[in-house]
Amino acid sequence: MKEKIITKKILKWYDLNKRSLPWRKEVSLQKKQYYTLISEFMLQQTQVTTVIPFFNRFLKNLPTIKSLAKVDEGKLIKLWEGLGYYSRARNLKKTAQIIIKNFDGKLPNNLRDLLTLPGIGNYTANAILAIAFNKPYIPLDGNIERVLKRYLYLKKDKEIQKDNLVQKKNIFGTTLRSGDYAQALMELGALICKQSNPICVQCPIRKNCKSFKKKDFTLKKNIKKNKEKYFILKVYKKRQRYLLIKNTKFNFLKNLSIFPMEELSNPKNFNENLNFKMSNMNMNIKIQYLKDNKKFTSSYWVDKKKLDSYMLPSFTKKIVRYLEKN
Ligand code: ADE
Repeated sequence: MKEKIITKKILKWYDLNKRSLPWRKEVSLQKKQYYTLISEFMLQQTQVTTVIPFFNRFLKNLPTIKSLAKVDEGKLIKLWEGLGYYSRARNLKKTAQIIIKNFDGKLPNNLRDLLTLPGIGNYTANAILAIAFNKPYIPLDGNIERVLKRYLYLKKDKEIQKDNLVQKKNIFGTTLRSGDYAQALMELGALICKQSNPICVQCPIRKNCKSFKKKDFTLKKNIKKNKEKYFILKVYKKRQRYLLIKNTKFNFLKNLSIFPMEELSNPKNFNENLNFKMSNMNMNIKIQYLKDNKKFTSSYWVDKKKLDSYMLPSFTKKIVRYLEKN
């Protein structure tokens, strides 16, 4: 199908069928950006229907990015209670603080800057650019991925790999209504092209859908191969305290407190002490105890007895617990 036709059909369907959601309200540009930031963080791991009341309550309590940047931890966590994955809330506050400090209080409108913010990965950055800034980006969430896989009948392992799907999403084309279009595609996946029992009779693009033609709606799951990665983790201990650094080096746990670590690309005879699954990695970690406190930029000591009073990723807490036991 020609690009223009597919965009037109999907947008027309969206205009007639979209759900009325609080973050879709027509508001000023500044509010739109704040609404998008909050809703996209909440929607990262939680379903739309669950998010709605939390979003409304959050906005009532913290109506601006400034109020979010200043909120005390207790109130923030209370507002998040029920959504789970609290690191999202903490990242959201940190992101608000960075936006105030480094971006004049305005949500960045480009991929590079957005990706530097805690809690914003590729998916959320794409969603923000489309929805808050009406830029021609398509966030590849589970819903859109499903539409794409069915529409093009992508079944082979190679075809359903993330890189290929990212390329293939271009078949959806572009429109001047990028924000609506990103949400229209998500909505199509959520309401019509459902995981089981898709409602093809109501689908605006069924005529050219290869799965519809073949009457085969089964989906193949992406088998994510976890990459084996090897790290030396450096432990400096002084009395009851461990040295941590702010992670600006690795793509995982960005800007959070971790033990100093070094990745080895080609280790020989690596006898790991610890093993973690994180993102798409299988982390093999070997612990090295060191005496000299090498100079690290932004390093600090944390008291092992007061672990819970620090904002530490659970990765770091687990390592402390391991060190205490061994
Ligand atoms: N999932 C992620 N972002 C969404 C949005 N803006 N609307 C509906 N579902 C979503």
